[in-house]
Amino acid sequence: SQAVETPPQQVPQATVTKQPTRTITILFGSETGNSQRVAEQLSSTLKDKNFTVQLSSMDDFKPKKIKDVEDLFIVTATHGEGDPPDNAIQFHEFLLGRKAPKLDGVRYSVLALGDESYEHFCQTGKDFDKRLEELGATRLYDRIDCDVDYEELAEEWIKGIVGTIQEDNASAVADVTAVTASSIEQPIYSKANPFSAEVLENINLSGQGSNKETRHIELLLEGSNFTYEPGDCLAIYPKNDPALVKAVIEKLNWNPEQTVPINKQGEIRSIQEALTSIFEITRLTKGLLDKAAGFFKNNDLLKLIADNDQIKQYIDGRDLLDLIEDYPPADLDPTTMIDWLRKIPARQYSISSSNKANPDEVHLTVATVRYNSCGRDRAGVCSGEIADRIKPGDVVDVYVHKNPNFKFPFDEQTPVIMIGPGTGVAPFRGYIEEREELDLKGDTWLFFGDQHFRSDFLYQVDWQNWLKKGYLSKLDVAFSRDTEEKVYVQHRMEERGKELFEWIERGAHIYVCGDEKRMAKDVHQTLIQIVQDHANVSREDAEAYVNQLKQQKRYQRDVY
Ligand code: 2AM
Repeated sequence: SQAVETPPQQVPQATVTKQPTRTITILFGSETGNSQRVAEQLSSTLKDKNFTVQLSSMDDFKPKKIKDVEDLFIVTATHGEGDPPDNAIQFHEFLLGRKAPKLDGVRYSVLALGDESYEHFCQTGKDFDKRLEELGATRLYDRIDCDVDYEELAEEWIKGIVGTIQEDNASAVADVTAVTASSIEQPIYSKANPFSAEVLENINLSGQGSNKETRHIELLLEGSNFTYEPGDCLAIYPKNDPALVKAVIEKLNWNPEQTVPINKQGEIRSIQEALTSIFEITRLTKGLLDKAAGFFKNNDLLKLIADNDQIKQYIDGRDLLDLIEDYPPADLDPTTMIDWLRKIPARQYSISSSNKANPDEVHLTVATVRYNSCGRDRAGVCSGEIADRIKPGDVVDVYVHKNPNFKFPFDEQTPVIMIGPGTGVAPFRGYIEEREELDLKGDTWLFFGDQHFRSDFLYQVDWQNWLKKGYLSKLDVAFSRDTEEKVYVQHRMEERGKELFEWIERGAHIYVCGDEKRMAKDVHQTLIQIVQDHANVSREDAEAYVNQLKQQKRYQRDVY
């Protein structure tokens, strides 16, 4: 379909009339791979049109090279509290810092990926956009901020950029729309068209007396054409709790069968179905409150939305039912309300099985989230559905989400250190299962932790079998609530510091999966400490050493 285009070598610079083709640099800051994928799509679309493109992760790009850049396109995610993703930290720090050079000749555009339910929505993208302008660069195309449903807007951004720079480049030909559409290949099943997977197993791994409920579920992927590697995720589109849907509909005195449009194409569903399977009702956002306040004309609500701190406080732990109970609207019709809601975003879980060992299956390890808020018992939308409503024989809508930033080695020479307390152990089960399937021995070391040995030792039998067979060489466990003093994985790491450092010096890869806020931070500090103690170097040198491991992709994290 690209036959209309002239191969690059047949386009001598002299035939370019308006201005010489500029070099395009595309940088991505990606946590889970979405930004990377969009950046790759932009890159291949531009390359198809004979542009010279350099694509790289922000951490593979030497920040000082920024002054040699001509056209710059940034695709970046934002993390937690408005922070840049791991692989964007250094570049972000450099560009926003005092040493950033003037960028008068640079033209740029930013695509920001984010999650509207967070306060600092798309913050990293906004930072780059603002800073590039301050440094004198010219905005070639306006920034677009995307919510979790980013695909359509990402395509719009790619089209917009290609269209804009094509106008400037006589060497580029062909219809933008056609190229963009053809370069984004749609597999049969995808995020936009999920596969309905049958549930084969759903068991509670947590034993009696546990404070937790951690479920092991197995799904059938036969017919999906999905494949996955250790470290990849499975995304599930959950359904809302029917009891909550019923309560909302009853509160508003609606007929559950009344139909509403569910997309721009004008497809319709009953309001009951729409609120169960399509729209998010368990989370309030500022945008939703604004729209509701404009419609309700309720003075208290109008007062509330005038104050950002109050909004933040109100939406925390409340859902749509709380809103309509707190501020009963008059004459709200289903179609109006649907327009305020966003689609239910898919939930991603680290896969805990090996595809090679289970060709048609995928296994997940899911901790059930339960809490009480504003006097009502609640559960996580997806984990609650898994725990309370999904049984073997039921189907769930899924797609595989590849994670390019959590990739394991498959050889017997590279030692592998895995740190995964709680459900963070999931990808390591998949990895060791795959090593068994491939009959790969070699040095593998797991640090696992949870509350109680008796009730929370996830997959204990698997680990013991793999130890016996030699696919797992070392296992250290930390049960935090069996002893007076808390013991965590990082305490075990410290105890084993000397040997850990020897493994690292031998070229070990280190993987951390699980809680980000506390565990991953503490484990990171412990790693630095271990290097400092056992390499006998300064704090700064130890930090540089660990940073280098990151750069070399020998230290990878999947934290949430
Ligand atoms: P705790 O809940 O007893 O404090 C898996 O959830 C395990 O991670 C639990 O044993 C939990 O202990 C532990 N954990 C909690 N905070 C941690 C931290 N900062 N670092 C490492 N593990 C932690």
